[in-house]
Amino acid sequence: MIKLRDICVSFRNEKQESFFGKTRKQVIFNISLNIAQGTCLGILGESGSGKSTLGRVICGMLKPDSGIYTLNDMEIYKSKSNKKILQEKLSIVFQDYTTSTNPRFKIKDIIAEGLFVYKKRTKKNIDLKKEIVHLLEMVGLDETFLNRFPHQLSGGQLQRVCIARAVACQPEVILLDEAISSLDAHTQVQVMDLLKELKEKLNLTYIFITHDLTSITYLCDEVVFLKDGKITESLKVKDLNKTTDEYAKKLIHSIIEF
Ligand SMILES: Nc1ncnc2c1ncn2[C@@H]1O[C@H](COP(=O)(O)OP(=O)(O)O)[C@@H](O)[C@H]1O
Ligand SMILES: [Mg+2]
Repeated sequence: MIKLRDICVSFRNEKQESFFGKTRKQVIFNISLNIAQGTCLGILGESGSGKSTLGRVICGMLKPDSGIYTLNDMEIYKSKSNKKILQEKLSIVFQDYTTSTNPRFKIKDIIAEGLFVYKKRTKKNIDLKKEIVHLLEMVGLDETFLNRFPHQLSGGQLQRVCIARAVACQPEVILLDEAISSLDAHTQVQVMDLLKELKEKLNLTYIFITHDLTSITYLCDEVVFLKDGKITESLKVKDLNKTTDEYAKKLIHSIIEF
């Protein structure tokens, strides 16, 4: 479904100026990967390894310097219309549920944002209130949340609202960038269970970005290890113990030895 081939990304170096003008710092090096429909790919790496940058390429928000990115054989950065098609098929859930929700919006308005995207695309008439309640229930909340504001919800509840907004536009793919990382361990498991349930129910494909290997083993089918912008290992989660990569081994031992 999703294919990346030799993706490279660099940013302009603001500080360092050479004789030839501004230099560039490369942060993603020749990344290639495949994501099959209905699977969950984990992208694992420490802070600064380039996970979010790669995520931005996959979301259509950042054109790579070079390389090819296709969704169902359609080349995304070839034309504006292809990019638009991608954005209709892909939703995003970020780590920071407080800044990704407008504090002055009620919960019903936050979820409605996602429904408007769907309405605009399909030109279907929808019963907004009914749909919002349906979405709230789908993420384990209920209609008592409709008129509340973000600050009146716990982190886990607000992230559920963000997930409801993400599925409201009926995407095929959801990219989750550290989506559970700010939650406490217990709430993380609850939100991961919700994500698993929605994936089956709605036939979704996930890209799950995290620095935490435990959540990858809980949720993902395959994993790539990212280090300094390069993939050092790529394998099925069930084959994790067979890795020969030193960095991957180090991380695996750090969770097993407890
Ligand atoms: N817009 C940008 N301009 C310049 N450098 C950036 C920009 N975005 C990210 N970087 C740099 O790219 C590297 C990877 O960052 P990022 O993708 O955010 O990593 P991660 O999400 O794994 O923590 C970092 O060194 C970061 O400073
Ligand atoms: Mg990041």
